[in-house]
Amino acid sequence: MSSPALAIQLSEAEMRLLQALVYQECGMYFDARRAPFLQDRLQRRLRECRMESFYAYYRLLISAEGRHELSCLLENLTINETSFFRNKAQLELFHKQILDELIRSKQDQRNHQIRIWSAGCSTGQEPYTIAMLIADALAYHQLRRPVTPETTWPKPLVPPPWRVEIPASDINYSVLRAGQEGIYPEHQMATVDYAYRLRYFDKVGDRYAIKKAIKELVHFDFHNLKTEFLPQKNDVIFCRNVMMYFDEAEQRRLIEKFYRCLNPGGYLLVGHAESLLGLTDHFTMVYRNAGTAYKRVEVAE
Ligand SMILES: C[S@@+](CC[C@H](N)C(=O)[O-])C[C@H]1O[C@@H](n2cnc3c(N)ncnc32)[C@H](O)[C@@H]1O
Repeated sequence: MSSPALAIQLSEAEMRLLQALVYQECGMYFDARRAPFLQDRLQRRLRECRMESFYAYYRLLISAEGRHELSCLLENLTINETSFFRNKAQLELFHKQILDELIRSKQDQRNHQIRIWSAGCSTGQEPYTIAMLIADALAYHQLRRPVTPETTWPKPLVPPPWRVEIPASDINYSVLRAGQEGIYPEHQMATVDYAYRLRYFDKVGDRYAIKKAIKELVHFDFHNLKTEFLPQKNDVIFCRNVMMYFDEAEQRRLIEKFYRCLNPGGYLLVGHAESLLGLTDHFTMVYRNAGTAYKRVEVAE
């Protein structure tokens, strides 16, 4: 049996090099408080690649052949914690106010396309929660103000002529694959009540699989929020518990990108511990009970 490789101790200069590379590649900022985590994940990659010097590894990361290793390192650095129906107060605001307003105004404009982007979607619980809430909202709306008479049975999840698209993106390929698979163990279902389980999941052994009709609304794709090429023309963007890993400069840049990725009057929803206050004049905060969201401010031409 081979003996375990000794950990390589990084000098301060080496640590700064690594921090700068990670920041430049994906916007995640590892300050002194989070440096031990960065060290730990680096050691794992060094062991995995059987590298004995930081500089050899660093040279690999910045080379053309090292693109795959760079994305493995970044995957190791992301925190992917998520859950279904996370931040209930905010989802209540989204469901009862934002979606209701969106559906009514789209119907008045005879535009039946709804597009909601989950940016930093992790293993899919967030975009699938959004899909379930939209399906509910459209069913309710169809009862009150039907756009077309119902002719088919079983009723489609999205009543025509409505079209719903939920792009779901992340920088981590493994979480994207898990999201695409859409099968969750019991312990990840604690926040899903039984009405939702019955309507939108199939029980497969001791796990729960998202039903096909919900799955078809969500499109998983790789997007690095650090880049400029991001999904456009969204009515709402969810970017929750992602910006908290960026520094203030990167948060400001990202908020301006989100502004451009939203349709006029669109909404940005960030995590419970995140805020846009003091970072932009382009959004105004709306709230209901303990839930908050940010509405795009339209500037006169
Ligand atoms: C803590 S999870 C949040 C998941 C979900 N939004 C929620 O609130 O439950 C953060 C996610 O952001 C992703 N992420 C971090 N930096 C990113 C970047 N530069 N571009 C895209 N996704 C990123 C991570 O891979 C991770 O899956």
